[in-house]
Amino acid sequence: MKIRVLGSGAGGGFPQWNCNCHNCHRLRHHTMNGKARTQSSIAVSTDDKNWLLFNTSPDIRAQLEAFPAIQPKEGIRDTGIKAIMLIDSQIDHTTGMLMLREGKPLDVYCTDMVKQDLTTGFPLFTMLEHYCTINHHPVPVDGSSFTIPAIADLRFYTQALKSKAPPYSPHRHDPHEGDNIGVIIEQISTGKKVFYSPGLGEIEPHVMAAMQDVDCLLVDGTFWTNDEMCTQNISHKKAREIGHLPQYGAGGMIEVLSGVAKARKILIHINNTNPILDDDSEQRKILDAAGIEVAYDGLEIDL
Ligand code: MLT
Ligand code: MN
Ligand code: ZN
Repeated sequence: MKIRVLGSGAGGGFPQWNCNCHNCHRLRHHTMNGKARTQSSIAVSTDDKNWLLFNTSPDIRAQLEAFPAIQPKEGIRDTGIKAIMLIDSQIDHTTGMLMLREGKPLDVYCTDMVKQDLTTGFPLFTMLEHYCTINHHPVPVDGSSFTIPAIADLRFYTQALKSKAPPYSPHRHDPHEGDNIGVIIEQISTGKKVFYSPGLGEIEPHVMAAMQDVDCLLVDGTFWTNDEMCTQNISHKKAREIGHLPQYGAGGMIEVLSGVAKARKILIHINNTNPILDDDSEQRKILDAAGIEVAYDGLEIDL
């Protein structure tokens, strides 16, 4: 299977439009060695032709224009996107649906909780019915597997994660299973597996078991430390409070990944405050030494 990283940044992207933090400032002024990043999305295919889109970022238009394999090939209207899977209902993962309104019926796979958010607090699905049909396919949260007819050689297993529904959600302060999922994507013909989870607040035993079982990890790389937005005077929000396990320190993602033997380890959904965006940083050297990569827009993984 091929995995294309369409967007490797967290909400806001890098640089963020109104941000003058150490990273955003230096990237804009060409005084740091690093790459700009669009907001969080990947695409997966087993034939380079039919693609499953994970999440629809507000940057989707530029992401698709930068990726010829997914562009129109035949007829007056065409796309390589055969289905969409939403892993939560966060703004950075869903707003791009509006940009897909010219599409034919859109086959969207998401949990019932995500569908509920997208028909109430942020009624994207309801709005889009006036432009195109949304065929909602419910995604199970009990670990059972399912397939998607248009991309027949892939099988999916989901993991319910401990995280939070978005700030706009009617049940923001009342967590439900299915607010946020991690997904194991398996190619049936080869048995190769990847675990995709850009928002991981806590590594529960079932999540660790999933991580041990796969060939490649694309996991939460949002923050280096729990208080990085506080110390930079950007926000009072701590990483763990908003559902992201920081990388550095006791119990952090680096320590978690040191317990994973076989998988290629890649961090994704990097926030613009994270020092690992500087390719020459000390923090990047720590990741290098731990065998952990940092995703960038356009990265392609062949499994
Ligand atoms: C998050 O994952 O916490 C988001 O990136 C927040 C956002 O989209 O503003
Ligand atoms: Mn996000
Ligand atoms: Zn910034």
